[in-house]
Amino acid sequence: MGASNNIIAVDGPAASGKGTLARRLARHFGFAYLDSGRLYRAVALRCLKNGTGSDDEKACAAEAAAITEVDLDDPALRDEATGRLASRVAALPLVRRALVDYQRRFATHPPDGKGGAVIDGRDIGTVICPEAAVKLFITATVEERASRRYKELLGQGATAIYPAVLRDLRDRDARDTNRAVAPLARAEDALQIDTTSMDADAAFAAALRYAEKRLAPGTK
Ligand code: CDP
Repeated sequence: MGASNNIIAVDGPAASGKGTLARRLARHFGFAYLDSGRLYRAVALRCLKNGTGSDDEKACAAEAAAITEVDLDDPALRDEATGRLASRVAALPLVRRALVDYQRRFATHPPDGKGGAVIDGRDIGTVICPEAAVKLFITATVEERASRRYKELLGQGATAIYPAVLRDLRDRDARDTNRAVAPLARAEDALQIDTTSMDADAAFAAALRYAEKRLAPGTK
């Protein structure tokens, strides 16, 4: 087996439960956690604030290169409009390129002296960390994902309409899957976990069983 790194890549479509799972794995193993979607959301938010059009690839890449900690902490990152624009700027090759080094460095040199890293996204197991010791691909039907996102929005006190949430997710899936560069895809050597009829505990248990076998010896 001989795993030589403590990198866990968690990929999957929007609202599949990958963020919850990735955070939990990071807590369990004492690893650093990176939500790579925040990077693309931060690019989108900067574009919105600065009036940068998503059709101007070079300008969007400049926004990506200029991201700061302040951008990554902005509550507006989670807005639906930010997510929608994120999936547009994420299709731009120069934007993706501008964010590669940060993500790779996080994986190979986790902050705060942590012994490993968990990164979630769309292309972590395929493009960013193809060498990751553990690769998970988390899915659920689009209807189930829309229902989770809908409840999450209501829980946050937002107004939401289920058919609109469903339409938005379908659009985002299509953009993420069909883009030419680093599309959403399962790495050949990733374990797929379909969470449609699984709760968060069951998904975590399945991921943990798999990860424990593949991480460097001595990892708890
Ligand atoms: O939270 P949710 O799953 O809705 O989205 P996210 O993970 O925050 O990502 C927002 C958008 O960024 C996605 O729709 C993708 O288009 C893009 N993204 C990407 O292209 N590659 C990644 N590694 C992460 C996100």
